[in-house]
Amino acid sequence: MRAKGATPLIDEPPSTAGLDPAGAPAPAGIGLDGVTRAYRTARGLVPALDAVTLHVAPAEICAVVGPSGCGKSTLLELVCGLQRPDAGTVRAGPAALMFQRDLLLPWRTALDNAALPLRIAGVSAAAAREQARPWFAELGLAGFEQARPRELSGGMRQRVAFVRTLLAGRPVLALDEPFAALDALTRAEAQAWLAGALAQEPRTVLLVTHDVEEAAVLADRVVVLSPRPGRVVAEIAVPAPRPRHRTDPAIVAVREHALVALGAGA
Ligand SMILES: Nc1ncnc2c1ncn2[C@@H]1O[C@H](COP(=O)(O)OP(=O)(O)OP(=O)(O)O)[C@@H](O)[C@H]1O
Ligand SMILES: [Mg+2]
Repeated sequence: MRAKGATPLIDEPPSTAGLDPAGAPAPAGIGLDGVTRAYRTARGLVPALDAVTLHVAPAEICAVVGPSGCGKSTLLELVCGLQRPDAGTVRAGPAALMFQRDLLLPWRTALDNAALPLRIAGVSAAAAREQARPWFAELGLAGFEQARPRELSGGMRQRVAFVRTLLAGRPVLALDEPFAALDALTRAEAQAWLAGALAQEPRTVLLVTHDVEEAAVLADRVVVLSPRPGRVVAEIAVPAPRPRHRTDPAIVAVREHALVALGAGA
């Protein structure tokens, strides 16, 4: 669907080359140039994104913050090839999307949920489980391999969903508010395990969050969007060594800068 008056430009769908469920995928980045997207609804066109230009280098962690409805999920769907822009171009390596809700299969064990992308890629059940198992130990899930999702806490389910996203073997991870449903303490833990997992298994990450502190703690760069239609109003580098803590002066400064940009954008 194309916005009236917008110039459609040819873009390439994300390729499936580089998909390697058996090991680390070839690095790939993300490039959006002048991306505009509007939804056609019964009430007319709803512009979601306005001329967004955003480049993420291979293995860079880029956080996107912005008010509700400013087009963040739309941005991730464009990167994953689930939508096409009305104008502008989107180039991205093969991407795996992690939704805000964990969407685990209730009838499968935690280990089999995590191993699902490998099974879909044709890996045998035994081999897929063996590949997923080390991540359970790594992320504090050892002993819960055979548990069903209903037997896990919200934070544990997010970890299983993250392992599943990682095991899709794609160089680009599009994370849509992965920790929004967690309480503050669990959320801080979740940020720590995500940072640890990405240090061990670097990927190009586009992390959408409402939480500017989470963005500053996790990302190399924080991109601030305006209210709908989302425009880039600030790009803030995070010059802090890792591991980070939310009280580090550099993290506090980035958080403040992002909050000011959010206010100015509105
Ligand atoms: N499928 C759709 N059809 C019509 N309008 C849509 C559709 N998806 C999103 N929109 C509209 O586009 C705008 C951007 O939506 P999007 O979900 O990308 O925002 P968001 O920044 O992810 O919001 P939130 O922070 O609440 O998750 C919103 O105004 C929304 O109503
Ligand atoms: Mg959203």
